[in-house]
Amino acid sequence: MILVTGGAGFIGANFVLDWLVATGEPVVNLDKLTYAGNLGNLAPIEGDRRHVFVRGDIGDAALVGQLLATHRPRAVVNFAAESHVDRSIHGPAAFVETNVAGTFSLLESVRGYFGTLEGGERERFRFLHVSTDEVYGSLGPRDPAFSETTAYAPNSPYSASKAASDHFVRAWHHTYGLPVLTTNCSNNYGPRQFPEKLIPLMIVNALAGKPLPVYGDGAQVRDWLYVGDHCSAIRAVLERGRVGEVYNVGGDAEMRNLDVVKAICATLAQLRPGRDYASQIAFVRDRPGHDRRYAIDARKIRGELGWTPAETFATGLERTVRWYLDNASWLDSVQSGDYRRWIAEQYAEAAK
Ligand code: NAD
Ligand code: TYD
Repeated sequence: MILVTGGAGFIGANFVLDWLVATGEPVVNLDKLTYAGNLGNLAPIEGDRRHVFVRGDIGDAALVGQLLATHRPRAVVNFAAESHVDRSIHGPAAFVETNVAGTFSLLESVRGYFGTLEGGERERFRFLHVSTDEVYGSLGPRDPAFSETTAYAPNSPYSASKAASDHFVRAWHHTYGLPVLTTNCSNNYGPRQFPEKLIPLMIVNALAGKPLPVYGDGAQVRDWLYVGDHCSAIRAVLERGRVGEVYNVGGDAEMRNLDVVKAICATLAQLRPGRDYASQIAFVRDRPGHDRRYAIDARKIRGELGWTPAETFATGLERTVRWYLDNASWLDSVQSGDYRRWIAEQYAEAAK
């Protein structure tokens, strides 16, 4: 079996759901259930005995040690993190706590467990750390895409905390021989993404007749990957990746934010006609330190591991919009008091 952390969040939950279908191998899922974690994300596997959910913190060494000793996983996949750049600007401390100190503590717990393994169990064990392309900083319009050897240059509290965690993971391999793998992926989108991130926020606001808040000039570029393709990449790295290596994951789908928002409006116009969604686009104050462009060079994972994404941006976006249209009750359940407070504060400020 494997231990997944952060498996009630957007990517972690998609990973657990896909994992059980693809492999059938049992999963212990450790998640703190912050505002971003939601057991509703795991509703399709409710009652499935191959999935054990445990509420807890990756930084709780006693709990993590006990889970490792009891379940003896063959791998740990670490998704747990604070993940939203705008929140990291308002409150960076939680990012240091979970992404830096939490990852450190998890590494120490896993190192202790790894020390008890012998023979084949020790040979096979892996610690896979899920990270982001944001650690590489911001590209100019004609710069080559981020490769695994691009120097780290994080610009936001979020990306700095993820960069720090990546460095700890690397060091635990080189110093202690922990068999680690790291993936640095571009922006994900798809079902179950919390509606504070660009794509779900725009879908939700468009349907509610609210403004679609585009930061600055909307010409920032992100390289979008459908979440299911990120999950298949993680499975490939876990199965066939070389220990100690980093794999960049991306779908060659660079898009300007404004074009993403227009594509969402066009998709909604087809699937839920009746309103001129694009007329709701509103330019608001830019994010401080806003990275201009991210782009991933995914040749290593494609060439070495034979991974390819199944979705294009067009097909992935349509699936995503359909999911949000079909899952209004999921949206209601995640739009808690905390969500409403965040949206009110963030966008009142941005409109100034
Ligand atoms: P998310 O915010 O949707 O989910 C994070 C999950 O981690 C939540 O369920 C939350 O409850 C849990 N969590 C937070 N702190 C915890 C702690 N201390 N202990 C245990 N659980 C904790 O994030 P996501 O978008 O699913 O991202 C998952 C991972 O993938 C993160 O590490 C993120 O940096 C990385 N990543 C995300 C993207 C993206 O576009 N979303 C792209 C590349 C990499
Ligand atoms: P986001 O989904 O927060 O991901 P990240 O900052 O990790 O790339 O934002 C994606 C892009 O969309 C980013 O350039 C910021 C921009 N953006 C907006 O223009 N308006 C919004 O309301 C949000 C949430 C993001």
